[in-house]
Amino acid sequence: MEEKENLSRSAENADEARVGEETPKKHSGFTSKIGFVLAAAGSAVGLGNIWRFPYLAAQYGGGIFLLTYIVFALTFGFVLMIAEIAIGRKTGKSAVGAFRALNKKFAFIGILCSLVPILIMPYYSVIGGWVGKYLAAFVSGNGAAAATDGYFNAFISSSWQPLVFFFAFVTVTFVIVLLGVEKGVEKSSKILMPILVVLTIGVAIYVMTVPGAGAGIKYYLLPDFRKFSIKTVFAALGQLFYSMSLAMGIMITYGSYMKKDAKIESSVHQIEIFDTGIALFAGLMVIPATFAFSGGSPEQLGQGPGLMFVALPKVFESFGSVAGGVMGSFFFALVLFAALTSAISLMETVVSIVIDFAKLSRRKACVVTYAGTLVLGLPSLFGFSIWSGFTVGGMTILDMFDFISNSVLMPVVALLTCVFVGYIVNSQTVIDEIELNGPFRKKRFFNVMIKYVCPICIAVILITSVLNVFGIFKL
Ligand code: TRP
Repeated sequence: MEEKENLSRSAENADEARVGEETPKKHSGFTSKIGFVLAAAGSAVGLGNIWRFPYLAAQYGGGIFLLTYIVFALTFGFVLMIAEIAIGRKTGKSAVGAFRALNKKFAFIGILCSLVPILIMPYYSVIGGWVGKYLAAFVSGNGAAAATDGYFNAFISSSWQPLVFFFAFVTVTFVIVLLGVEKGVEKSSKILMPILVVLTIGVAIYVMTVPGAGAGIKYYLLPDFRKFSIKTVFAALGQLFYSMSLAMGIMITYGSYMKKDAKIESSVHQIEIFDTGIALFAGLMVIPATFAFSGGSPEQLGQGPGLMFVALPKVFESFGSVAGGVMGSFFFALVLFAALTSAISLMETVVSIVIDFAKLSRRKACVVTYAGTLVLGLPSLFGFSIWSGFTVGGMTILDMFDFISNSVLMPVVALLTCVFVGYIVNSQTVIDEIELNGPFRKKRFFNVMIKYVCPICIAVILITSVLNVFGIFKL
């Protein structure tokens, strides 16, 4: 699959912000549709599926969250992904260039897109560091300790350890991006990512057979409408954007690499099924495990970002010390790898933004991005230790970064994208791009969604969620 390699350049679109003045970079494009689908799915699959989805599902009502998420994926997710990929393929450019090419006055939407990876990168790396810590624990034979209650909290609240692992994670990402050896990483990802998928499904199946897991399966798969709250909606929408790498320009860039003869509509279906499928299985490993090994109390389920780190070591521990050690090491190594590939792609995106806006050389832009990521990541880290007293509306600093990017900026970008496509360039432009090779089966649905349903719903969700956090509108 040669085509995936093209993506290492996906972020190097420095030239694309200056559309019009020079001939746009010639994209070599994906040579097959499946190549495009796998590459886009590869970007979409990451910590969002394995770490973030399960804890949100556990926290916001289990089955009802899953149902809400799936409805959003089929509606907002489908429409936005179609629109972004079509914009990218039509213009052959990434976010800033694409919006500018379609309408000069709206290049600012592309700039807003750019802010998202800048915000995500630092806290993504904090979680990457946590994964590194668990890998180290299992490899060094401390898997049993990692499975004990209190281990996770002791780790994140300690002063040095999270810092060391965060620093190591960002540094490895930085070195790979600086040396430009992403291609090697991408090659390995073609082998390692499928193994992670198989392992996730395997662990999920094992967990479901453990006594006590039944209640967890029920909680996760059967929607209980009494557990529905507006927070379920906020969480599911933010997760949709985050997990599918939407509303941040990434899918526009991927679209710009797509061949004109590949079908956008069916590709989008496949990416969505893949991304959602992996999240679904990650939930099936983490949530039933929380019931089987920790009782599944509301406090357990609602613990937030730590859920996977608390639940999974207990699963591996139940394999016995040797098998558990091996499986735990293997699993966390693969998750670390998945986190690293996403972090590389995020860092590259940020580097290209820095090149564009600060007109720096690639080398200097890498160093600036590295330093910026370290500095911006520290508050998220300290939010669990020395600055744990600082919270807004119950959110830690990491939660705040997460909230600002996923619940504020991404919905804003998504809303603007809908208005832009629906009214400024007109949805027909996107429809024409999709119809270049065959009928657009959901054309009418797309039209109604992008013009009316998506912008209205996203605006309402955005406003209520922001007011809710600041306590102006208590829900
Ligand atoms: N979608 C990725 C995940 O699920 C996270 C992500 C968000 C990402 N934005 C990205 C990955 C940009 C690569 C590039 O983990």
